[in-house]
Amino acid sequence: MLTIPVMKQTIPVLVLVMLLGIARADDPILEIRASQTAGKVSPMLYGLMTEEINHAYDGGLYAELIQNRAFTDDATEPIHWAAVQANGAAANIALDPAQPFNGEFRTSLRLQVVSASPSAAAGVANDGYWGIPVKPDTRYQASFYAKAAPGFSGPLTVAIVSTNGTLTYAQAQVRHITSEWQRYETTLKTGSVQPTAAARLTLSVTNPATVWFGPVSLFPPTWKNRPNGLRPDLMQMLVDLKPAFLRLPGGNYLEGDTIQTRFDWKKTLGPVSQRPGHPGCWGYRSSDGLGLMEFLLWCEDMGAEPVLAVYAGYSLKGAYVKPGEDLEPFVQEALEEIEYVTGPTTTKWGAQRAEDGHPKPFPLHYVEIGNEDWFDKSGSYDGRFAQFQMAIKTKYPRLKCISTVGNEQPADKRVHTVVPGVLDEHYYRSAAEFLKDAPTRFERYDRSGPEIFVGEWAAYEEVKPWESASRQLPRTPTMKAALGDAAWMAAMERNSDLISMQCYAPLLVNVNAGASQWRPDLIGYDALRAFGSPSYYAFQMFSRHHGDSILKATLTEGPLQSVVTRDSRTGRITIKLVNPQPAPQAVAIHLNEVRSVAPEADAIILAADPNDGNSIEEPTKVMPVTSKVRGIGPSFSYVAPASSIVVLQVDAR
Ligand code: AHR
Repeated sequence: MLTIPVMKQTIPVLVLVMLLGIARADDPILEIRASQTAGKVSPMLYGLMTEEINHAYDGGLYAELIQNRAFTDDATEPIHWAAVQANGAAANIALDPAQPFNGEFRTSLRLQVVSASPSAAAGVANDGYWGIPVKPDTRYQASFYAKAAPGFSGPLTVAIVSTNGTLTYAQAQVRHITSEWQRYETTLKTGSVQPTAAARLTLSVTNPATVWFGPVSLFPPTWKNRPNGLRPDLMQMLVDLKPAFLRLPGGNYLEGDTIQTRFDWKKTLGPVSQRPGHPGCWGYRSSDGLGLMEFLLWCEDMGAEPVLAVYAGYSLKGAYVKPGEDLEPFVQEALEEIEYVTGPTTTKWGAQRAEDGHPKPFPLHYVEIGNEDWFDKSGSYDGRFAQFQMAIKTKYPRLKCISTVGNEQPADKRVHTVVPGVLDEHYYRSAAEFLKDAPTRFERYDRSGPEIFVGEWAAYEEVKPWESASRQLPRTPTMKAALGDAAWMAAMERNSDLISMQCYAPLLVNVNAGASQWRPDLIGYDALRAFGSPSYYAFQMFSRHHGDSILKATLTEGPLQSVVTRDSRTGRITIKLVNPQPAPQAVAIHLNEVRSVAPEADAIILAADPNDGNSIEEPTKVMPVTSKVRGIGPSFSYVAPASSIVVLQVDAR
């Protein structure tokens, strides 16, 4: 069959022919007023939300490959570490708080080698985050801190080996180990190997010895080769979404279970060997290797700006700080954080940012005060928000403060003594609920109220993310959820005169068993591979294709949902359609108030069985295809395929 090349796939011509149909009297009608705008599309509309959940950073985007690198993930056992005892060598390992690495890491890993020889090495091995990804012809930066007891001074071999110990993928030797803490660094280079994650990092010796280890690290190549950087395949997927902003650092992760375990930004700066890390709120410890500076560089590398969420005196287990004097230290902490992000180098925290490698201030327009503060049963949020907003606006009048209690929450929970600059609303709903609510939800909003940030949203199929049954489901959503997501995005884009920003949540999930706490998530991965869910591609279709003006358009009530925007510079009209039905649906499209229309349009179509999704094994089962549609004019009939999301781009004058 004749095929036309599209994106990474091909689409049969037969399908293209079906897309334009003969108009029938009872088809839904989309009337577009091409010269009448209903408002501007917010230039910040499409962004990303992030937090340490599902091993999003450690074991995910943050490229460090060693799990429990500083031996702090468990108080009694060196979890993820094992003794290496090849060919009858004898060794044991243990945490050794009597030999702390430093004031931040109050323990070390002790290796005691009782017997070893050149043919029977002994040492320690780390199993990584569900394996160490081995790729051909790749350079890995290994580093570790160590000191040896008298009687041993080296050499020590650093290697990436297969889990069963039979294959060595790369190795290097450190000749001399001293009796004082010292950092050692070496490069490991693989040859032409088969990619695998069934590997671990070993540090081994060939004589009896006692060696203590401090933080051990292994980095593959990173995005833009940044030291302590991010995983390139995931970064590419994020950049491909063209995000305008990154909401950071959470979510629940900002608040922590307790005040002590909040995201304490000052402790996430500086050399990683001095970042203590902290217990996260999702059941595992965070290394804080991805700290505030790394968040900001991540934004910069995506061409996005931070939406900075500051800790606002409420933590998940219910502790809160009373507004007034008690809250003041936290307000100051937030002001300093803003100074770190935006201040000139003549300020204390601007100078610290320069010392941390980035003299140029980062752009910042939005500061979020807390997260989901409707959970605060004390009723203190109104006072806490007011105190933060007052202090921030006094020092930084141009910044907009976001309240975390939006219109989807009961009125008595909302801030009422002051007017917040922005309201953050969160929507985790079934696809069916999104499809039902989308046509009118935001149209009902009062346009004179604060702007809206939909700071977390996602459609699930049937099972709610917080129900235990959700743990049995694939971590990323199916096409069914993506159809709900697309209807919701159409609603937000139609109302983007009011909704200035929106972001799906959660963004990232390590799909290994036991690695995640929440589904559905936009992007899945293991140590070696990554894939986008249908919702990822739906988001990409929306974020990459839209005009700057919302056009007035009406669609006959029925199965389809839509949004129409126009690029005021080129005149190009972008029509987005969502057909959630299991059958193709024709629609009569009338482009009013245009002088001429190009006969050919670009179409991007994501269509699949609602139960289909992508996975590590089938990463591209559901993918958008790009094609040309002919026969376009001021009035034309278009057939949206069954269960589809369509972006039509029409050139009109
Ligand atoms: O996205 C997962 C969690 O959902 C976020 O941490 C929290 O803000 C929300 O309840």
